[in-house]
Amino acid sequence: MFAHSALCVCVLLAVCVLRGSLSESQSQTQSYGERGSDLGLQVFLRVAQEKANENVVLSPHGVASILGMLLPGTHGETKRQILSGLRYKKNGPYKMLKKLHKTLTSKSNADIVTIANSLFPQLGFSMKEDFLSTNRENFMCETYPTDYSNPQHAAHAINEWVRNNTKGHIPSLVQADMLDPALTRLVAVNAIYFKGLWKSRFQPQNTKPRTFTPADGKPYKVPTMSQLSVFNIGLASTPEGLKYKVIELPYNGNSMSMLIALPSEETTPLANILPHISTATVQSWSKLLHQRKIRLLLPKFTIEAEVDLKGPLGRMGITHIFNESQADFRHMSTEPVYVSKALQKAKIEVNEDGTKAAAATTAIMLARSSPPWVTVDRPFLFLIRHSPTGTILFVGQINKP
Ligand SMILES: *[C@@H]1O[C@H](CO)[C@@H](O)[C@H](O)[C@H]1NC(C)=O
Ligand SMILES: *[C@@H]1O[C@H](CO)[C@@H](O)[C@H](O)[C@H]1NC(C)=O
Repeated sequence: MFAHSALCVCVLLAVCVLRGSLSESQSQTQSYGERGSDLGLQVFLRVAQEKANENVVLSPHGVASILGMLLPGTHGETKRQILSGLRYKKNGPYKMLKKLHKTLTSKSNADIVTIANSLFPQLGFSMKEDFLSTNRENFMCETYPTDYSNPQHAAHAINEWVRNNTKGHIPSLVQADMLDPALTRLVAVNAIYFKGLWKSRFQPQNTKPRTFTPADGKPYKVPTMSQLSVFNIGLASTPEGLKYKVIELPYNGNSMSMLIALPSEETTPLANILPHISTATVQSWSKLLHQRKIRLLLPKFTIEAEVDLKGPLGRMGITHIFNESQADFRHMSTEPVYVSKALQKAKIEVNEDGTKAAAATTAIMLARSSPPWVTVDRPFLFLIRHSPTGTILFVGQINKP
């Protein structure tokens, strides 16, 4: 059987671009968005643990989407592993992922989030109609038959699609040597583009070089934005009693926000806070946050990071999809398929851009006492959250802005 049934390779690529500025959050009972995000957060925490001194950016929603795209093709234990990883029951997730996808790509978010999913099957690799139609309906996922016998050409076609669908922010993703002319059967791409504008912008003339001390302890200067405004801010604590500040920066439209977590004590490494982070923790922050006038100092940064999802997903019990002899994709194709590569590339740009002048400037100018300064000058965690669904679109640890 194995002699002829050529190994089918499925490369999963998720592309996420985030061009940001800031928003706000509300507490909810745990939604589907949060469940999917939880898996992605777990993946992030594992990667962050391995790369304690590096910048890491990941889209938890992208991880959930890619598993959601594969799910209708799976059967048996392979399916069970994905469902349990996503914490969905039976057939629940398709409708919810579809709804989530719709919400995130709705008109009100049109200027902020672009999610584009696509499958690139080998020319002539036959996929089951139900699988294709489910993906079309749930993820607006189109398929583009691609000839992998010419990896150079195939990589070029995929990269062009990625470039088109991320508005040029990720010009290239796949290299020809990632594709095998004989074995590649399917490349799945999930592209998320985010260009949030802060609700209240930072004035570019206030951006000045300031000292940032990365995890390795060697301070250096980094362009740091500054804004006097009213922000949601609070003090949280891990079960071990390590305190950290949480600051919420709303994006225009109020449905998205960036949440920043910064250890209160300079001696507390970010790595000691991370194990405590989950969607439940993030949800609990809303009770701690209060509006306060502060001067916020935040580094301006652009981070691009690629994450190989295979290791972390495998350690979380999603192993069958990657195993040639165990993967059961019988509802995708009659040919045996397994996933050889699962990559996600994410890019985030955080700068001054916003839609309005700093909201509270006038009020603050009138205030007599000078407001407290909150300076983000050490490694920090950020999350971009869609408040109505609790979906975590992006999460990152910034060690060197
Ligand atoms: C990308 O966009 C260009 C210009 O609109 C178009 O000609 C090309 O077909 C697109 N390529 C893909 C792969 O979508
Ligand atoms: C795949 O599964 C087989 C059978 O259960 C197992 O023997 C093998 O070690 C697995 N391969 C990998 C790479 O995990």
